[in-house]
Amino acid sequence: MRPPKRQNRKPGVRTSWDPVAAWYQGMVGEGGSKYHRKFAIPAILDLLAPQKREHMLDIGCGPGPLAPFIADVGARYTGVDASERLLRFARQHHGNAGRFFLGDARKLPTLDALQANSFDAVIFLLSIQDMDPLDQVLQAAAWALRDSGRIVLLMTHPCFRVPRQSGWGWDEGRKLRYRRVDRYLTPLPVPMKPHPGDQGGVTRSFHRPLSAYINGLSACGLLIDQVREIPKHEEGKTAGQSRADTLADQEIPLFLGIRAVKRS
Ligand SMILES: C[S@@+](CC[C@H](N)C(=O)[O-])C[C@H]1O[C@@H](n2cnc3c(N)ncnc32)[C@H](O)[C@@H]1O
Repeated sequence: MRPPKRQNRKPGVRTSWDPVAAWYQGMVGEGGSKYHRKFAIPAILDLLAPQKREHMLDIGCGPGPLAPFIADVGARYTGVDASERLLRFARQHHGNAGRFFLGDARKLPTLDALQANSFDAVIFLLSIQDMDPLDQVLQAAAWALRDSGRIVLLMTHPCFRVPRQSGWGWDEGRKLRYRRVDRYLTPLPVPMKPHPGDQGGVTRSFHRPLSAYINGLSACGLLIDQVREIPKHEEGKTAGQSRADTLADQEIPLFLGIRAVKRS
């Protein structure tokens, strides 16, 4: 006789990273992954320009790698995530830098800990592409933000890094590394198995064209005032890399950062 199927522990939020929490917190660690440290966190801080005593809301905070950077400038930090396991890690390692709450990014008004129009800034650090539907998430973020407050999104560049639908190619004639994009305009939920050895975990990445973010923000009264397109290399050659690869890394951005301001 077959053993009974293991029950899911909780239905929870469908897009929560609880099933891959052990792998993800291992990769991010206390100080952030190498991508956090080199690109994502500096870009967020650059766009956010956090000020002393401001109150920041990090939506989809996961294991909380941003919290100490916000605390360091004397700003207040609140993180919300749908993964209990990642929040446990965040509280254990960054509990002295801020507060962490379990919650669904689409339903922030249902959280007792949060108030409408109360945050100076709202942040999505590598999390907006893991949430769906976008309009509900942006609406909830706008709800939390005070008038003239800012929202900062940092994501893999949706024009060039479409999961499973883009990649590098080699043009032998021109000795050129090029980026191939097979699909772009159609929104696409892409199942991701970040760690093949992990028993539990599949997450979903929600590809959307750039217009979905621009128009989605605008529909919530959030007007874009800054954009950063962040390459893997800004200048110089990385040891062991060909000139063609270095050029490709300099010219095709890895991340996109967007800042928008809530219209008062
Ligand atoms: C790629 S991780 C990024 C975590 C963190 N910002 C970082 O940079 O390490 C995406 C996070 O979004 C969270 N998430 C996905 N859907 C969510 C939702 N509806 N509400 C709250 N968090 C959600 C996941 O649980 C996960 O922790």
